[in-house]
Amino acid sequence: LGQTVRCLQTTVSTNEDVKEAARSGAPDGMVVTAEHQTGGKGRLGRSWDSPQNGGLYFTILLRGAHLPQAVTMVPLLSGFAVCTALRKSFSADARIKWPNDVVIGSRKVCGILCEGGTDASGSSWAISGIGVNVNNPAFPPELQKRATSLLLETGQQYTRCAVLQRILEKMEPLLESGSLPESYAPLCVSLGRQVSYFRGKQKYTGTACSITPAGELLVRLPDGQTETVNSGEVTVQGI
Ligand code: BTN
Repeated sequence: LGQTVRCLQTTVSTNEDVKEAARSGAPDGMVVTAEHQTGGKGRLGRSWDSPQNGGLYFTILLRGAHLPQAVTMVPLLSGFAVCTALRKSFSADARIKWPNDVVIGSRKVCGILCEGGTDASGSSWAISGIGVNVNNPAFPPELQKRATSLLLETGQQYTRCAVLQRILEKMEPLLESGSLPESYAPLCVSLGRQVSYFRGKQKYTGTACSITPAGELLVRLPDGQTETVNSGEVTVQGI
């Protein structure tokens, strides 16, 4: 990963740039970074605030050797890679909020948006778009309760390039293996907590009890039944 890295000053969204590159045959592992995004995208149609304020914004193209057979694993493996990189190399007590938010305490330090498609020759690709709050000294009032940065948590500045490098190093073997290590569960703050999710318009609340090998969340409902939740919004209560 990262043999080709394109560093942009400003762009709309690195996810859009990499999707366009993917459609025209860009290589596996290509990375686009930006200092600032004018239309950063988040999950579920939200936006991702992307000022030039210490944040690391990048997207990786995965095809061939780095595209797991189960593409649904890409978000989980990406989240796990970021979490372990922040813990090991940047002394941050990072944890995962299923499926792929990385949090420190109750605040988010990294968000991930994965997308997929096929190129002109019909071969499939996925992209993993990652936003890490590295040296952000502060957040706007509406984000202060929900967002944090490595600087705010550890009191240290880090070069964003080093953070990118450590994340890519963690991602590479995980994507090649395509499966979630057992050490995902102990790092996952959602397990054992009350979670809510929607099926259609109906809201369900239960206890998240485990992660399946396919990366789904197993939820025990109050009537004792278990359900697997594989996408959409899961709200973890208390964090
Ligand atoms: C989320 O938590 O909702 C996902 C946020 C993903 C943000 C990153 S920043 C780099 C890449 N480009 C985008 O437009 N989004 C992702």
